[in-house]
Amino acid sequence: MDGLTHPAHHRRLHDVLWLLLPVAVVAGLVWFGRVHTLDYQTGLFGQYADDARRLKAQLGSALLCLALIQVILALWIYGRLPALRAAPHRIHTTHRVIGLLAFLVSLPVARHCITAYGVQLTDARRALHSLTGCFLYGAFVAKVVVVRHRRWPGWALPLAGGVLVTVIALIWYSAPLWYLNGHQAPGL
Ligand code: HEM
Repeated sequence: MDGLTHPAHHRRLHDVLWLLLPVAVVAGLVWFGRVHTLDYQTGLFGQYADDARRLKAQLGSALLCLALIQVILALWIYGRLPALRAAPHRIHTTHRVIGLLAFLVSLPVARHCITAYGVQLTDARRALHSLTGCFLYGAFVAKVVVVRHRRWPGWALPLAGGVLVTVIALIWYSAPLWYLNGHQAPGL
């Protein structure tokens, strides 16, 4: 092996190791959600039972709105909004701030879910919701890993962002929408 291929090989290994981090996050959450003792009495910002559920559905819907704003900002940054010129620097900053806000909004809701209900695989809706709920944090970590390591191919960032938004939409459909829609989510 010559002196050039060796570091390149190391870099690839390094990149693969970074990708194990989101996998470990998802596996850890699923494991915790399956084994811990459920606590149905847990509250959310001082709200309990149905009040907590309504607040969660509202925060979950806010999360979806933030994710949709992120899609529009990302399209602007990639020059895909024909009516707009190149995104100014503040749009990049706004995208980062809203991304952090979305993460922070999701945390208390996910904490309530995983503490009260854990990961439930009893029916399609609960299984989809619980697993995408855990997957969300792997997707968040993957997105940050790809943003920080600029060596990834050009498609990696839009792919990571697209997965994140899709996961948020599935979470919203299988629980916040279900709750706000009189306990119904068509198809689930
Ligand atoms: C750690 C990952 C998560 C797990 C394991 C999880 C698990 C669950 C489960 C099993 C239920 C169903 C309760 C039932 O119908 O009997 C539920 C309900 C719900 N989840 Fe999650 N969830 C997670 C993350 C999230 C996130 C990120 C959101 C939104 C931001 C969310 C919003 C909701 C809402 C609004 C409900 C319906 C209200 C309620 O039953 O309290 N969940 N969750």
